[in-house]
Amino acid sequence: MTQKYQVFLCISHKPRIFGGGCCNDKGSEDLLEELKSLIKEHGLSSKVEINSSSCLKNCLNGPSILVLPGRVMYGKITSDDLKTIVSQHFKEGKPVRKLIKTPGTSILG
Ligand code: FES
Repeated sequence: MTQKYQVFLCISHKPRIFGGGCCNDKGSEDLLEELKSLIKEHGLSSKVEINSSSCLKNCLNGPSILVLPGRVMYGKITSDDLKTIVSQHFKEGKPVRKLIKTPGTSILG
C-alpha cells in the first residue's frame, strides 16, 4: 500500500507567542503555494494532502511544517528544502533528518 501523507504548513500571523516571530512573517504563505505546485508537478496529489495550519508551537524554527504520519516537524524551511522534502520524504518515504527542527520529535509512524 502506498503511504499517504498529511502536511500542515503554518501560516500563522500570531507574533511572538511561543518565543519567536510567526511563520507568516517568514514567508510561509509563499512556501505553501510552492509546495502545492511541487506536489502537482511530481504527480503526488493523491498521495500528499497539503493543509495550511495555525501555529504549530515551533515558532523559533519557523517556517514550520508538520507531516503525518510520524509527527515529523520540519523547521526553518526554504524553497530548496521543500524540493528535498518532496523528493526524499514524499517520493522515497525517508524523512529528511537534517531538516527536523524540534528536539524529541518522533520520526516513527
Ligand atoms: S507561528 Fe508558525 S509555528 Fe508558531
